[in-house]
Amino acid sequence: MSSNRYIAALDIGTHTIKALVVSQKNGGDLEAVFQTQRESKGVRRGIVVKPEDVSYILQDIFNQLKTELNKKIGSLYVNIDGSHLFCQSSHGLISVSRADHKISEEDIHRVLQEAKVVSLPPLKEIFDIVPQEFIIDGERGVKEVRGLQGVKLEADILAIGGFSPYLKNHTQAILNSDFQILDRVPSPVAAAFACLTEKQKELGSAIVDMGAGTSGLAVFKEGGLIHLAILPMGSDNITQDIAVGFKTEMDLAERIKLEYGSCQPVKNKKSEKIKVEGED
Ligand SMILES: Nc1ncnc2c1ncn2[C@@H]1O[C@H](COP(=O)(O)OP(=O)(O)OP(=O)(O)O)[C@@H](O)[C@H]1O
Ligand SMILES: [Mg+2]
Repeated sequence: MSSNRYIAALDIGTHTIKALVVSQKNGGDLEAVFQTQRESKGVRRGIVVKPEDVSYILQDIFNQLKTELNKKIGSLYVNIDGSHLFCQSSHGLISVSRADHKISEEDIHRVLQEAKVVSLPPLKEIFDIVPQEFIIDGERGVKEVRGLQGVKLEADILAIGGFSPYLKNHTQAILNSDFQILDRVPSPVAAAFACLTEKQKELGSAIVDMGAGTSGLAVFKEGGLIHLAILPMGSDNITQDIAVGFKTEMDLAERIKLEYGSCQPVKNKKSEKIKVEGED
């Protein structure tokens, strides 16, 4: 019997909110079956500050999706962003529970939960953990522990957290729009899924996702995430500088940036005059 699986994802950005649905037939290749984007509202520097504005846009996307795909997509993956996000290394230790000392799924769950307990300032909370390595009876560097034997199981993890009220806004914006959250992925980690190969992550690499209101950094080593940081600065800062420098509106400054801006340093280039269409 053929089975079609649908996977949906949302990218809530400062500039645009994007949605993508892919389908997978019988475990085969992924095929994009729906994509759309809307101008963003209620998001400042990557943070959902007005959940009702974001919900309104998501509800609209939800309706479009239902009509075009003729299918109700209830759950999705969603990015999370903003300079309030932080990561913190932590460690857990447990005794393996089974008499034959075989490490079970339950042991792995317990050691990760143990590692997740970190002391935090008020209004900060952990929403995700990334296991980095397991240690069995002092033997470091174990990536896959299920089924191995040991007495003492330890785990090094990277805990990812954020400012609770902003996390709440983010969740509320999505839940109020008829979608459920499958998982929240920090934006630069999502960018790494798309842009870095397993080999690059294994060798060690860093990725920067420059958006309109944020620039996010994710660093990988030995295949796993080891650091994450978001700066509240992005391409909007360039637009603002153009608007101030040329004394123009933001919309025109954005057009100038897109049409004439370049990141390539050009040597000995004389200043040139540009004519912006529709402007005197
Ligand atoms: N070709 C281009 N050259 C330069 N800048 C561009 C280009 N295309 C888009 N941008 C800029 O990228 C920004 C939008 O990027 P993106 O969609 O990644 O942001 P976002 O996800 O909405 O914001 P954030 O991630 O910061 O919350 C806008 O500021 C836009 O001007
Ligand atoms: Mg973004």
